[in-house]
Amino acid sequence: MSRELFEAARAAMARAHAPYSKFPVGAALKTGDGRIFAGANIENASFPEGWCAETTVLSHYVMAGGGPIAEIAVVAEKMDRITPCGGCRQRLAEFAGPQTKLHLCDATGIVETLTMADILPLGFRGDTLK
Ligand code: THU
Repeated sequence: MSRELFEAARAAMARAHAPYSKFPVGAALKTGDGRIFAGANIENASFPEGWCAETTVLSHYVMAGGGPIAEIAVVAEKMDRITPCGGCRQRLAEFAGPQTKLHLCDATGIVETLTMADILPLGFRGDTLK
């Protein structure tokens, strides 16, 4: 259920380490077999060393064995509808398919649902590198 995924993302946002931007972000993904992973942004006093919530959730997912991704949710309490940054779109596309659902959320729930193809229409695909 997508509400459950939103709640996982919101709970992760509460664990963000964002003392510099004061812009907590949470992300969660659900695999095709129903596993849910979540993550938050983790900033650093050396600013470029911080990373996004989507990157954290992907690391949990990969370390747990990966698998097909069915849905993704992203939330930022200070935005009406957060959209993943360009780098995170590319990172998500490494593991999610073009039809994977992406729920854009505010602090109360899902505001809009798109697909990965909607947000990264001409992303670089690694197929030719294999
Ligand atoms: N941030 C994310 O976690 N995900 C995004 O897609 C956009 C930005 C974080 C990075 C930084 O910690 C804070 O939001 C402000 O840019």
